[in-house]
Amino acid sequence: MAPEATVSVFPTQGDGKITVPALLQRKSDPTSRKIVCLTAYDYPTSRLADQAGVDVLLVGDSLGMVVLGYDNTLPVTLDEMIHHTRAVRRGTKHALVVADMPFGTYHSDVSEALRNAVRIIKETGAEAVKVEGGERRLELIARLTESEIPVMGHVGLTPQSVNAIGGYRVQGKTADAAEQLLRDAHAVEAAGAFAVVLEAVPRELAAQITRELRIPTIGIGAGPDCDGQILVAHDLLGLTFTAPPKFARQYANVGEVISGAVRAYCDDVRAGIFPSDAESYHSGESIKRRKPIHIAC
Ligand code: KIV
Repeated sequence: MAPEATVSVFPTQGDGKITVPALLQRKSDPTSRKIVCLTAYDYPTSRLADQAGVDVLLVGDSLGMVVLGYDNTLPVTLDEMIHHTRAVRRGTKHALVVADMPFGTYHSDVSEALRNAVRIIKETGAEAVKVEGGERRLELIARLTESEIPVMGHVGLTPQSVNAIGGYRVQGKTADAAEQLLRDAHAVEAAGAFAVVLEAVPRELAAQITRELRIPTIGIGAGPDCDGQILVAHDLLGLTFTAPPKFARQYANVGEVISGAVRAYCDDVRAGIFPSDAESYHSGESIKRRKPIHIAC
């Protein structure tokens, strides 16, 4: 069987790894399940999320806010993205790993953007990159996909545009804005992206885009009608220090678990009950019988 026939038939590589063609295929299969995506920034989280059955792990530049403590995503560097994506890739067996291209790495000329995307793919093992923006990224997305780098688009609220937009707010609410968003989503598809994130978009508009596109839509704050969903892992886990956005469902309170565990450790050390004798190493008999050392000055 020719390799291209294999790709079109099987949803994963032989080793169970989820592939870009497999995700695309889900769009045309009415029986296929929703695509589950989650962000990840390190080895343990990616390993656990991968084992739990997530389809796509995105090393989002939200890294800057939820892990590195920046005020927004703009300061995140290419080297930081590469460092974290390598760790995520090491923890991942099945999920498709997508890495965000950080602000400034695809905004000047397309050749430089291609060089940066090649670095991400070559140095991290990620299988795709994500770029923010619609119509204005047509040429860039086309160039990357022509260069065998699969691209996930991202339209609607694009956090790297925070200064231009003037905050984080729902997009596509007026007729003109909705029309522009539709054009953006279609442009991303036409340029060759294999999927597109719709962020902070009215449910009805996201449903319309999902109906019109041939590539999967991945929603975040875009309602339940998208082909898949993505959340920032720290919102899902309850590991943030600000109120989560309206669309984020918190499934655990890991922040409380960490605080409780560390408080208990502090108490035990201060009370002298950690470590216990069972948690200590012990000398052999010959060492216990050794004569004391006298150093003559
Ligand atoms: O950076 C990120 O985590 C993202 C997702 C929210 C889609 O872009």
